[in-house]
Amino acid sequence: MRAVVVALGKIGLPIAVHIARAGHDVVGCDIDPRVRDAVAAGRAPFPGEAHLDDYLTEVVDAGRLTVSGDTTAAVAAGADLVIVVPPLIVDREARPDWRVMDAALTDVGRGLQAGTVVSVETTLPTGSTRSRVAPMLADLSGLRSEADFFTVHSPERVFSGRIFADLETYPKLVGGLTDAGEARAVELYRTFIRQAEVWGMGSAEAAELAKLAETTYRDINIAFANELARHADAIGVDVDRVIDASNSQPFSHIHRPGIAVGGHCIPVYPRFYLAGDPDARVPAAARASNLEMPSYAVDLLRDLLGGSLDGARVHVLGAAYRGGVKETAFSGVFDVFDALRDRGATPLVSDPLYTDDELRALGLEPFDGHPVDGVIVQADHAEYRDLAAEALDGARAVVDGRGVVDVDALRAAGVAVKRIGRP
Ligand SMILES: NC(=O)c1ccc[n+]([C@@H]2O[C@H](COP(=O)([O-])OP(=O)(O)OC[C@H]3O[C@@H](n4cnc5c(N)ncnc54)[C@H](O)[C@@H]3O)[C@@H](O)[C@H]2O)c1
Repeated sequence: MRAVVVALGKIGLPIAVHIARAGHDVVGCDIDPRVRDAVAAGRAPFPGEAHLDDYLTEVVDAGRLTVSGDTTAAVAAGADLVIVVPPLIVDREARPDWRVMDAALTDVGRGLQAGTVVSVETTLPTGSTRSRVAPMLADLSGLRSEADFFTVHSPERVFSGRIFADLETYPKLVGGLTDAGEARAVELYRTFIRQAEVWGMGSAEAAELAKLAETTYRDINIAFANELARHADAIGVDVDRVIDASNSQPFSHIHRPGIAVGGHCIPVYPRFYLAGDPDARVPAAARASNLEMPSYAVDLLRDLLGGSLDGARVHVLGAAYRGGVKETAFSGVFDVFDALRDRGATPLVSDPLYTDDELRALGLEPFDGHPVDGVIVQADHAEYRDLAAEALDGARAVVDGRGVVDVDALRAAGVAVKRIGRP
């Protein structure tokens, strides 16, 4: 098989390498020359993906993976399968901005040849493959959709850092616009997904919705954990004990509460789901509930500090949306920052992964090293697990939004500590 993978990002590059390792010829296309140069030299352009360096060197040395900055030419040279996986950018309300995706599809459409299957792996709102992707490709190529070429959706469902393992663990979902298109795509995917199953979904919409459903489920589950935690706070019960106990029988899988739900996926895909099903009440309520958590955490600190944050200096620990990851997409830090300001406090942020200039560029005020009144733990960076009272710059109160700090040690040193959902 000859395959073209468009966009060699954190998801696209491992897929391109995985296909090449199965013995196929792969051309990886990217608009960024730094990415192309690194890949052509057999070097991963980003850190943290297990096995990527070794596998990349192997397939580049064997001539199985080559790179190109000209997607149209790579596709025009003839391909059995074109995988398109650039990011779908969203605004603060998680509404899609299609420009990056459309640019990639335009390049593919201009080079498209009869007999090719185009598979979009980027997570999409339901219906996009049929109503947006396929018509664009047909218009640009002059070919007939589902007669001369096929379009399918195959959502990536992997976790950055362990993509090669995930690709051979979970079923690969493939949904087409016709039975013939889906069958051809399933056949092609089975040539390189060899241990995991490849599931034909019956339609592109079913494949799109499956990805939105699994991520929306997590948002709803976390929202329930958060509401349980708030109720536990109100009645003086430890929510961890409650969740552990509930999950000790096999039908309960309650997630953990926390100060915020961040990242590219979980805060975003429920909005894609709701765009297609605007009357759905549970995902909308879950989203609203999760969005209240930063404010809730700030109010816990206000209570610890005697009922007012007016004039207080508060150190927010962690800008990243989760521990150990340099990523602030939809991070809770922004809402914590705003909620502190709304209550008259001065929020000051630090993060072991970000410089002061990087924090300023994000619209945050870096911590200045002077004494503070309170601390809020926003990200579960490993560095915060052994936070000592002496490192709190005089803070009298800590709200631990992630349940990571050593509560006993801080309390023994006279610091008031509140964890969400724990008395
Ligand atoms: N499961 C996960 O953990 C996870 C994490 C992040 C993203 N994703 C998914 O993967 C998709 C892709 O995100 P990513 O993290 O791989 O992106 P990324 O930001 O790592 O990389 C995107 C790449 O696309 C390239 N690019 C942009 N426009 C292009 C074009 N027109 N032609 C060719 N290349 C182009 C960029 O140069 C860049 O190298 C997301 O939309 C999302 O669906 C999943």
